[in-house]
Amino acid sequence: MESIFDKYGGNDFWQKVLNEFYETNIKDHRLTQFFESADIGKIKKMYKCLLASALSDQGDPVHVSIRRVHNPYPISQLEFEAFLENFDQVLEINRLRVEDKVQVLTIVNSYRNDVVKQ
Ligand code: HEM
Repeated sequence: MESIFDKYGGNDFWQKVLNEFYETNIKDHRLTQFFESADIGKIKKMYKCLLASALSDQGDPVHVSIRRVHNPYPISQLEFEAFLENFDQVLEINRLRVEDKVQVLTIVNSYRNDVVKQ
C-alpha cells in the first residue's frame, strides 16, 4: 500500500507543508520565543526526515534524539498543543484526508513526552 508520505506527492509536498507550518509557528505568539534564534531550515529538514520515516512505515528510529534536542527548551503542554493545532490547520489547508491527518497528528503527538517539560 502506498504510504501517506508518497500518496500526497512525497518530498515536494511535505516540504511545502513544513514551510507553511513553520511560517505559522514563527508568527504564533505562543511559540515565537522558541524559534527566534533557531535554525529553521535545519529543523524543517530533520522534521521532514522524521515524517518520511514515520509515514513510510519504516519504524521510528528517532525518539531518543527528539528528547535530546528539545531538552534545553522549557516547552509546556499548552505550547505543545499550539504546535499540534498549527500542524492540524496546515494539513487541513493542504487537503489531507481526515483519516490521514489523524494518523500524522497521532505520530507527532507520540513525541509529546519527549518534548514537553512542564
Ligand atoms: C511546542 C512544540 C515544539 C517546539 C517549541 C519545538 C522547538 C524546537 C527548537 C527550538 C528546535 C531547535 C533545536 C536546536 O537546534 O537546538 C527544534 C528542533 C527540532 N524539532 Fe522541535 N519543537 C517542538 C515540537 C517538536 C515535535 C513534536 C517534533 C517531532 C515530532 C519536533 C521535531 C524537531 C526536529 C526533528 C528538530 C531538529 C533536530 C535536529 O536539528 O537534530 N519538534 N524544535
